[in-house]
Amino acid sequence: MTEIQCQTEAELIDGRVHAEAVRRKVREAVSRIKDSHGLTPGLAVVLVGSDPASEIYVRSKAKQAVEAGMASFEFRLPATTGAEELLEVIARLNDDPLVHGILVQLPLPAHLDSSLVINAINPLKDVDGFHVSNVGMVGTGQNAIAPCTPLGCMLMLQRLHPDLKGKTALVIGHSNIVGKPMARLLLNADCTVIVAHKSSTNIPQLARMADIVIAAAGVPGLVKADWIKPGATVIDVGINRIPAPELGLQEDGSARTRIVGDVDFATVRHVAGAITPVPGGVGPMTIACLLVNTLLAFCHLHNIPAPGLQPD
Ligand code: GUN
Repeated sequence: MTEIQCQTEAELIDGRVHAEAVRRKVREAVSRIKDSHGLTPGLAVVLVGSDPASEIYVRSKAKQAVEAGMASFEFRLPATTGAEELLEVIARLNDDPLVHGILVQLPLPAHLDSSLVINAINPLKDVDGFHVSNVGMVGTGQNAIAPCTPLGCMLMLQRLHPDLKGKTALVIGHSNIVGKPMARLLLNADCTVIVAHKSSTNIPQLARMADIVIAAAGVPGLVKADWIKPGATVIDVGINRIPAPELGLQEDGSARTRIVGDVDFATVRHVAGAITPVPGGVGPMTIACLLVNTLLAFCHLHNIPAPGLQPD
């Protein structure tokens, strides 16, 4: 008798399609606001130094803000900028009525204290949701600006699971940018939340209990197929650049690289019920949610009712 191998295939959660739907909603809302109020939401992005990855992110954020019909203001400061000078730039942006969202790209050069800098931003303009006041409000279930990457994950999850109540979610990674706020948003949705991190000793066992796994550890291919409960939803936040000798050499003789996530996609996709790819999963949602946060900050600052932005 021949054995029939039956491999299932997870639903692919296409972040590019979701992000385009979110951007379209923002674009339409911005256009309506311009017509009705004669006002334009404005986003200011501050980059200190010239980290190549940060340069790419900042360019992309500014470009997408303009494409959404917003005003974009870019501030590029040398890596040697002192705290006082940076705080002055932030104070000016806090007072500028044309600026509704302020984002200081991280990481900052080592001599700058990022908490001090972030907490100098007017919390109502803190479109990253990193200010301690927004962290505290989200953490206590109040309406406040939530960090963009976890917010993007929540929008994708809510499409798949309109009612997240009672689902067991494992968040792997406890950074301030992703893991911790992700856990808070899942808790606010009444999930049972487990947070694992680099000191956790039993992540595979924890993962097997989870209906939802959010991988945000920054470790390429960490999450294996035998960790995953069949049918679970797997959201991969990892963006890891690894050598890819199979792609040959670059012109300068160095190995080509490729981007992979924290999930062993090739095998996990046969166990999970739904999964985000890398690239093309969570990544595009992050900037789309920055536009959402800028629009919401604008509405709050101008006392305009916030438009519904959940994609259809
Ligand atoms: N660096 C990496 N991710 C982010 C982010 O979401 N916001 C900011 N400001 N910097 C980052």
